[in-house]
Amino acid sequence: MLGTGYLGATHAVCMAELGFDVLGLDVDAGKVARLSDGEVPFFEPGLEPLLRKNLATGRLAFTTSYDEVADFGDIHFLCVGTPQRTDSLAADLSYVDACIEAIVPRLTRSCVLAGKSTVPIGTAERIAAHVAQVAPAGNDVELVWNPEFLREGYAVEDTLRPDRLVFGVTSDRGEEALRAAYRPVIDSGVPVVITDLATAQLVKVAANAFLATKISFINAMAEVCEATHADVKKLSEALSHDARIGGRFLHAGLGFGGGCLPKDIRAFMARADELGVDQALSFLTEVDAINLRRRARMVDLAHELLGDSVVGRRIAILGAAFKPNSDDIRDSPALDVASRLNNAGADVVVYDPAAMDNARQRYPNLGYAGSTTEAATGAHLVLHLTEWAEFREADPAVLGEVVAACNIVDGRNALDAERWRAAGWTYRALGRP
Ligand code: UDX
Repeated sequence: MLGTGYLGATHAVCMAELGFDVLGLDVDAGKVARLSDGEVPFFEPGLEPLLRKNLATGRLAFTTSYDEVADFGDIHFLCVGTPQRTDSLAADLSYVDACIEAIVPRLTRSCVLAGKSTVPIGTAERIAAHVAQVAPAGNDVELVWNPEFLREGYAVEDTLRPDRLVFGVTSDRGEEALRAAYRPVIDSGVPVVITDLATAQLVKVAANAFLATKISFINAMAEVCEATHADVKKLSEALSHDARIGGRFLHAGLGFGGGCLPKDIRAFMARADELGVDQALSFLTEVDAINLRRRARMVDLAHELLGDSVVGRRIAILGAAFKPNSDDIRDSPALDVASRLNNAGADVVVYDPAAMDNARQRYPNLGYAGSTTEAATGAHLVLHLTEWAEFREADPAVLGEVVAACNIVDGRNALDAERWRAAGWTYRALGRP
């Protein structure tokens, strides 16, 4: 496993769980040491016990040595990150390039190199050409593409029981190698789609573009609801009964964030531009804009509820992670709103059940509290921005005792509005009267 971040660490553990001998490589010696000690360096339910179990079998180990992995692997999975570049919408391929440049010259024996990282279409073909030119084993190294669809919080489940497997291949040998690597998963009935390299790379970004579009669609409807006093939650429920539409990813609220959807749709647009098909994806500009407008709307609502000025007013922010059951704060809508209000002069206090360390590190200027009650104490306004179960279960009567004023905005449409109103709160939500 080349790279032991979210994707690589999960994949390494799950492949060992399936019975394979796995060696995970990372250039970050600290990460390798923690994983070797049985510690998962990020929050992912269910992963740590599985890591420990498989370390104990001797089937799983981690290293910083490219020489070691090059010797070890019959199949090398490329799992390094492809974040957004700082100077454009495009993907930053420096980790992919560095990894390929390190591993390929060391491939002296027959093996398969399987790309899993989310990349701009054309990257696989470029790597294949590099392999053909540089790998000492030459044609005995086969390049295939095997995109990953795992969701944070469900990473183990999504890896061991995915909705589908996509194998981008150029030969029977490549297909057979991937079928062998996923035999237990395939035998459990998971469908396999065999494609060429270009389609395999495209499936991943197309899936994320569709999911982002679905979320922004319902959030666009939320804007219309706000102008018409309609209720987006009821609208979404009514739409979801149409099996052609379906209810998943149709929850209106503060919109999407995280390490994937935002950067993937932007990188997809950037690549489409290079390919001369920018018009085909111009709707994604709007999908991105709708998503970001929800954050601005939340800031406006805070101003509205506080009588137009937030300066010096205490605002409790419930949630910092980009979604519940995660400690990931990459492009977190909650922290974006928190820092905008902080910049506007509010006294912002953030609480999250899992993402406090990451949030503090990235946003040292914000205030932090150790619990929901501590964050709410003395607050003139409470913003519910990440829908952790802990917040849904919070007792509005108890919180009503500690706040300075009973104002709440439910940025995720996840609280029981009647319960909060019955306890004397002014309850507002995005897209609802
Ligand atoms: C996503 C894809 O789901 C996954 O297939 C891909 O491999 C990586 O990107 P992830 O980033 O873990 O996974 O998060 P996901 O559960 O998809 O949620 C993305 C964002 O959308 C979150 O911020 C979430 O709060 C938001 N969201 C999701 C909504 O606002 N409304 C919804 O209805 C669903």
